Amino acid sequence: MLKRTHYAGQLREEMAGEQVILSGWVQTLRDLGSVLFFDLRDREGIAQVIIHEADNPELFSQAAKLGREYVLSVRGKVRLRENPNPSIPTGLVEVMAEELEIFSTSAVPPIHIQEDDKAKEELRLKYRYLDLRKKSMMDRLRLRSRLYQSLRNSLYEEGFTEVETPILYKPTPEGARDYLVPSRVNPGKFYALPQSPQTLKQLLMIGGCDRYFQIAKCFRDEDLRADRQPEFTQLDLEMSFVEQEDIFAINEKIIARLFKDIEGIDIQIPFDRLRYSEAMERYGTDKPDRRFGLEILSLEEVFKSSDIGFLRTAVEAGESVKGIFLSGSDLYSRNQLKSLEKKAKTFGAAGLATLIFASEVSGSLARIVNEEEKETLFQICGAEEGILFIISGKKKTVLTALGNLRTTIAKEKELFDPKEHDFIWIVDFPAFTYSEEEERFVSEHHPFTMPKKEHLSLLDSDPSSVMADCYDLVIDGYETASGSIRIHDSALQSKVFSILGLSEEEIRERFGFFIEALRYGTPPHGGIAFGIDRLTMILSGTENIRDVVAFPKTLAATDLMSESPTAAGSGQLEELHLQIIRKEEVE
Ligand code: AMO
Repeated sequence: MLKRTHYAGQLREEMAGEQVILSGWVQTLRDLGSVLFFDLRDREGIAQVIIHEADNPELFSQAAKLGREYVLSVRGKVRLRENPNPSIPTGLVEVMAEELEIFSTSAVPPIHIQEDDKAKEELRLKYRYLDLRKKSMMDRLRLRSRLYQSLRNSLYEEGFTEVETPILYKPTPEGARDYLVPSRVNPGKFYALPQSPQTLKQLLMIGGCDRYFQIAKCFRDEDLRADRQPEFTQLDLEMSFVEQEDIFAINEKIIARLFKDIEGIDIQIPFDRLRYSEAMERYGTDKPDRRFGLEILSLEEVFKSSDIGFLRTAVEAGESVKGIFLSGSDLYSRNQLKSLEKKAKTFGAAGLATLIFASEVSGSLARIVNEEEKETLFQICGAEEGILFIISGKKKTVLTALGNLRTTIAKEKELFDPKEHDFIWIVDFPAFTYSEEEERFVSEHHPFTMPKKEHLSLLDSDPSSVMADCYDLVIDGYETASGSIRIHDSALQSKVFSILGLSEEEIRERFGFFIEALRYGTPPHGGIAFGIDRLTMILSGTENIRDVVAFPKTLAATDLMSESPTAAGSGQLEELHLQIIRKEEVE
């Protein structure tokens, strides 16, 4: 077998004259009659191979049979090209072939394995193993691997122990539905795949582990989005005898090293902090991207006695009137503003009013706004020219819509450099929010989060005003990590479960073992979990989580390549004591 001496993508000018053996796939072939060229691809890139009929007729006829994606090794000499191609790193050289060993032929591939391939994502997912041959795809997987290496190095140096926790377990509440696995030997009983190793890592603290970490697979049956997969990976960690500040310090160190290792940049630590309530007021979201301005402006005062009916009545009804100001001239055409309003409506806004400051004032409010209001708004916006976007309605709806509009406009108008990064801790979250749908309090983070000491007395009287010791790390507008200081007292833990509407029996059944464990000497502890997929997205500059997962699932939680999920095989259901009852049959 011809064994590789170099990767194709590593050939350079200074290697001219060297004998090499390359191994990989045929990307493209060009037959010029008596000369044959092909590009050989491996994970590092491509190199051009050339065969002259006159030099070696036998080799030439062997090469004439090659097709796209054939797998081979080629031995030959590196030489400088007559026609260099400066657009690729190996473009100054080529390999004069002397020997070929063909290992595999290939059927005609259903997608072009080229960076600019226009194939639909469904087709690329069905033939994922072919799509992965693209350098950009493999580069992202390799970046992910370097990320693991950097994180592991940091954590080992900081005295963490890597522990694996079970996948077949009991429900771990993180706000999603569980994936259940039926037990064959325990008829009618189910394991749940972990939504996170939350209770397990706390049990490791009770077990005396002191500093734990794991690169953990998590499973959540929830609505999927561009940054969510039903199974994803966390860097999960937990520490004993710590406070919030200790967790921040160690994680800032780990993240700074990660960005140094991967991007070679020095990031500034400590990271800024922002209270949850302030993040919502200023950016309309708890995951703000501060690489651009467009902060939310409160305009209730301006319109409280306005002649503009819909704005005045909103203020009178205690609702919100808020806006964002984009400075500049000739920003959006009338049609573009219409489509922006459509987008604002998909974000929940009832409409999008505009006031355009230029040599003349225009926009949807221009004719109805009075001089005094115009002047005040002009002062608030603090710029010569630009567009003020205004949304009115319920406070939460207005903030959410403006938050989304803010990022949409920033992307459309390229208001930030995507290569820059913004790190921020969001702190002081409420412990509970009231769910109208479920008619009960639900945890803002999860039920194991410690309420702030000074708010413990409010637990019985006013749960909605209790704040918790929990935090998120937001990078470039993504919630990248989330964590908290935990409850380490079993009575307090039971109390929190009961605030969440669990009966004593439910607490015993679902968390009895955990509440009991807390009674046997629990150290104060806390931790955090990073979304590895999101961190890799940020470091590789993609907005699609599927780009950083080797074999991802679609938004409908299916795997197009293996066609899973599938129906259970004959006999399997019976063995598992299960029966499928179709809805129509029930009806
Ligand atoms: P949380 O549920 O916030 O916290 O998850 C932590 C981080 O995991 C990532 N993440 C996801 N990534 C991809 N797809 C998903 N479906 C998905 N869901 C979450 C996010 C998120 O910030 N046990 C706690 C952590 C702790 O308290 O220590 C937890 O799981 O980046």
